[in-house]
Amino acid sequence: MMIKEQSNPWCIVQDVMDAAREGFYESLFSLGNGYMGVRGFHEDDCHKLPHERSQFIAGIFDAIDSGVTDMVNTPHYLHTTFTVDGEPFDPHEGKILDYKSVLNMKEGTLTRTILWENNQGQITKIEKERFMSLHQLHLACLRYTLTPMNYSGELMIETGIDGHVRNNPIHDDQMKANNKTVKLLEEVDVTGGVRNGYMEMVTKTRQDAIAESYVVKPLIPEEDIVENTKIQRDAYVCSRFMIRACQDRPYTFEKYISIFTSRDQVEGLKDTTLRLSEEASHIGYSALHHDHAQAWAKKWQIADIEISGNHRIQQAIRYNIFQLIQTNAEHDHRVSIGARGIMHGRYKGCYFWDTEIFMLPFFLYTNPEAAKNLLLYRYYTLEGARDNAKALNLKGVKYPWMSSADGREQCESWDTGSCEIHINGDIPYAIHHYYQVTGDVDFILDYGAEIYIETARYWSSRFSYDKGQDIYNMLFVKGPNEYGGVTLNNTYTTFMARHNLELAIEGIALLKEHQRWHDLAEKLDFDHKELDRWQDIRDKAVIHYDEGRQLYIEDQHFFDLEPVSLDDFKDGETPLYQKICFDRLQRYRVLKQADVIQLMTLLPKAFTQAEKMAAWHTYEPITLHDSTLSYGTHALFAATLGLDEAAWDYFEKSVVLDMEDVMHNTDTEGIHFASLGISWQAIIFGFAGVVVEEDGLSMYPRMPQQWDKIQFKIIYRKNLMDVTIMGNAAEVTLCEESQTEHIDMKIWHQVLSLEKGKSKQVNKTAAQINNQQQLG
Ligand code: BGC
Repeated sequence: MMIKEQSNPWCIVQDVMDAAREGFYESLFSLGNGYMGVRGFHEDDCHKLPHERSQFIAGIFDAIDSGVTDMVNTPHYLHTTFTVDGEPFDPHEGKILDYKSVLNMKEGTLTRTILWENNQGQITKIEKERFMSLHQLHLACLRYTLTPMNYSGELMIETGIDGHVRNNPIHDDQMKANNKTVKLLEEVDVTGGVRNGYMEMVTKTRQDAIAESYVVKPLIPEEDIVENTKIQRDAYVCSRFMIRACQDRPYTFEKYISIFTSRDQVEGLKDTTLRLSEEASHIGYSALHHDHAQAWAKKWQIADIEISGNHRIQQAIRYNIFQLIQTNAEHDHRVSIGARGIMHGRYKGCYFWDTEIFMLPFFLYTNPEAAKNLLLYRYYTLEGARDNAKALNLKGVKYPWMSSADGREQCESWDTGSCEIHINGDIPYAIHHYYQVTGDVDFILDYGAEIYIETARYWSSRFSYDKGQDIYNMLFVKGPNEYGGVTLNNTYTTFMARHNLELAIEGIALLKEHQRWHDLAEKLDFDHKELDRWQDIRDKAVIHYDEGRQLYIEDQHFFDLEPVSLDDFKDGETPLYQKICFDRLQRYRVLKQADVIQLMTLLPKAFTQAEKMAAWHTYEPITLHDSTLSYGTHALFAATLGLDEAAWDYFEKSVVLDMEDVMHNTDTEGIHFASLGISWQAIIFGFAGVVVEEDGLSMYPRMPQQWDKIQFKIIYRKNLMDVTIMGNAAEVTLCEESQTEHIDMKIWHQVLSLEKGKSKQVNKTAAQINNQQQLG
């Protein structure tokens, strides 16, 4: 679905209300500030079911089954309704004469204007704007205006908090639909401060208390307010205004909502919550909005990517960046980022490898502290991961395929939960990436090395030694290609496990160098024979490689699978698992998503150009991209191989994936955060060719011909670099905020000596241009 060509690439506009597309726009217009997220439903849509009004708070999970949690849908604090001379507003009754929703990504606001004619022919203009403050994370604000356009009469407005919300725990097995809803909020305490104008509700899950309070400020002349009452009843508090309304006069109220939970560990949960909404009402909407917009401006200053020559892609990449920032609780290491963020209940709000492999690089290069925070989440869930390993009769730690509050496995599908184990190598990989980009040795000494060692121990117990052949097999394993079934020696997993073992060996060396090894070895009860086994596995783990074709084979049975032609199956971009069950799919020689290709993008130096091309020609034609993670990976890989056309085609799909609902599931599944992250990577690592290795930062830009110019900033070792690429020319500025006075980097293999505050330019050499043309 194409979004209408927009004149302002900072905004996404919907100008027709279409009931069938509302779910899509609700996902698209999700707002958040890392602490809390809300879908873009209309606060006054009386047709929304209790589980459809999703408002989540990062880290608030509750048990729905023994050991299985769901992200809790919290009381509906935007709830608003109104009547015109007794007739309730209903978007599906009467006529919508005009409609406009604008998501302003620069300022993080959702604004809507609706012209509604009721069954009596009375026309009312409804204007509303909401934001979740990025400046004060516990604050959400709503401004709501009604204007009678062709009548004078009685308006009744009710706005408050509706605690009648439910959860719809969606099974992680993509084949299983769940239409049942559950009530997770057990206890409700409703209080109203009639005198002070506030209303409050405290609810409790089994583990956490959630306090929400609001103050409503009517900007309506007192003489027009006939009645101003507060209503309190079971799980519901609201403020009601009866207004004697005159034609053409706007009637506005502002609502200041404050939210805290017991996880915030504030003294006096109720009082703190109340105080904030009261303070906010004194500060006022415009000033709060200003602070919020300033906070966004600070983010955009570093995170923005400017693209000239392609309006649609400019808008799309901003959307991706906007959502990534919105969903990350950058100061709370007790949470990570769910596959659908804090804006949708899909996958029960759980965290996957999506964070470390697909999203983390964006934060790492634009906000390294936020990246560190994400990795700390894995450190603080080591205990849960240790229990997972024990439950599987294994050593060390086993990070869950799906994680929530404490790192215990949340995946309900046995094969995936027990066998899709590559996440245990993905996390150490991400830690190493963080270390390379930041040089933060303390992080490795304090946290990273322990993770390296504990995950290495897991691999050590997970590989099976075949004495006869003196080899190590990885039995019963599922690679990233989830259509590949449970198989033998998945190349991706074995490579990542070997990499993990190497990191653990290096980590121990680093600890020794810093006199930190003794303590950790004691804490972990380390036996030095463990190291010998790690080295042995690293050298003898089975990887299937066809020398003749220079081809890494996905797993031992890959070529036993039934060959098929994708043309017989694929019908647009809709995932095939919606038509064919997983059991059948796993006998076909098709890939759900990048597997060997995924590996080659992560460890590019481990493979030759010929091996990469062989992988591309073998796997790309049979990849269905039924996971949204796949397009971006293919774009990145193709870009680094010089396959410009393919790189562009895949990139285009990936970058607009949710904005244009490419997979037709943005409505029911929410926003795909991994896809947002990999689209960013496709630009920075693919088209701009940014690489960080032991010997420093380098770039090998390969600009798509569709773009005239691209400009972005990255942070490398506390240095802020401003990069502009125009075709075969590049310019880099070492910004004033940088830590060092001078740094060397390479562009197109040429060394650039950068000095703080100055720019340097470089051009591609004639030979490089010629070579690129030949590749093309
Ligand atoms: C993909 C996984 C991904 C998960 C959550 C699945 O469809 O196959 O790779 O981690 O979705 O996004």
